[in-house]
Amino acid sequence: MTDPRPAPTPGPEPSPSHRGPEHAEPPAFAREVWNTRVGFILAAVGSAVGLGNMWRFPYFAAEHGGAAFVALYILLTFVIGIPLMLGEFSIGRRAKLSPIGALRSVGGRRWTPVGYMFVLAGFLILAYYSVIAGWVTRYAIGIIFTGFPDDPGAYFAEVSSGVNAIGFHLFFMTLTIAIVMGGVEKGIERASLIMMPALLILIAGLAIWAATLVGSADGYRFYLAPDWSEVLSLDTFGAAAGQAAFSLSLGMGAMLTFASYLSSKESLPREGTVIAFSDFGIAFTAGLVVFPVIAALGLQEAVGESTIGALFIALPGAFDAMGGIAGRTVGSIFFVALFIGAVTSAISLLEVVTSSVIDEFGWPRKKAAVTMGIVIATVGLWPAMSLDALGAYDGLTGNVMLPLGALGIAVLVGWVMRNPIDELVIGSSERFRPFYKGWLWMLRVVAPILLVLVLWSTIPGAFEALAALFQ
Ligand code: TRP
Repeated sequence: MTDPRPAPTPGPEPSPSHRGPEHAEPPAFAREVWNTRVGFILAAVGSAVGLGNMWRFPYFAAEHGGAAFVALYILLTFVIGIPLMLGEFSIGRRAKLSPIGALRSVGGRRWTPVGYMFVLAGFLILAYYSVIAGWVTRYAIGIIFTGFPDDPGAYFAEVSSGVNAIGFHLFFMTLTIAIVMGGVEKGIERASLIMMPALLILIAGLAIWAATLVGSADGYRFYLAPDWSEVLSLDTFGAAAGQAAFSLSLGMGAMLTFASYLSSKESLPREGTVIAFSDFGIAFTAGLVVFPVIAALGLQEAVGESTIGALFIALPGAFDAMGGIAGRTVGSIFFVALFIGAVTSAISLLEVVTSSVIDEFGWPRKKAAVTMGIVIATVGLWPAMSLDALGAYDGLTGNVMLPLGALGIAVLVGWVMRNPIDELVIGSSERFRPFYKGWLWMLRVVAPILLVLVLWSTIPGAFEALAALFQ
């Protein structure tokens, strides 16, 4: 494999892995590593699985052609999701650094600003993600201890504003900081090993229960009836490509950072495939929960006006209408599952920022996690107080910064990085060999085209939301 272009000048600094395992000077302090392969996989799946799976995916599928969208989504997961994830993995594991240092090490100095954009994206996403996670926490606690509110709309308005919203946002940030302070193995890996199996069991249990509901067939039909004409539109294509990248936490270095703690024994293509399919599986299963529940009460139309609020208004209403202990039990389980998904995503966001500060400024982990966590919590006060601000943070990051970041990854690995295929070969079995060339061309040509399409369709909306804020 030869590079299509001459090496950029100044050339990329040699990465630690190039010096071989027994290089002369040991690093100032040893980089943390995952204790087990399963720990890494569950942490990465934890990052990927979140609100995007439990609400955004089912909702998109129902809106954009049902099973036809699901088929397109699977295709795009192969064409851009997995290739981009393997791109982040190969940068992270080769450089053994967090995003800023890793991009600089693999691409040369001119890539440093892209690294900063990744960290800034992590900052902004966590700031508003934690606000929504705070609502989820409040709902879970409320349903478990006091049952459903009489008026879900009024309840949502109360939970998502004022002292409630700020208080639970700060509580959630504190929890996230506490886990990240514990480090890669004792904090993130341990939390994922406990929480992710629990999440899987809860979601699977809910899906089985939902199948027993009267009217569940209508729900499945609403969710999955294939409408192939939808799939041919540019809009749907953009939505599916964007969702595939968002759902896998790509475009801001979360997967890159997690891979930087990985040893050369691990097979990147194998882990990447497992992670992508687990993420898809959970998203798909969440739809098998949400739609039967909603259809059992004939609430499909409520989904049509979906903003994030619908999750907090339509579903509690549906669970409540089921009545009695059953509705309350499954309602609590649903919100606890959502809470777990949010925690494990949030820790990966804070880890990107924390590890960047550790690598760039040499701060100790605890100081880095606490300081950055407090700054992010502060930046999150605005979206905690204003749904418009929340929407603008979401639009700016999800619609602009993440697709741009993903484009950066595709170009860096496809056109700039030296011998990227070599990194995939390390630790992998022979049977992945036939796919490597195709992987590179996905990153060189196909992913950039699709990502430009995504940006084309989303940038205007994101800037309108921003402009509206300052009017
Ligand atoms: N993947 C997460 C979800 O589906 C959301 C997300 C997007 C994310 N980018 C991220 C989470 C980066 C952690 C890190 O909800």
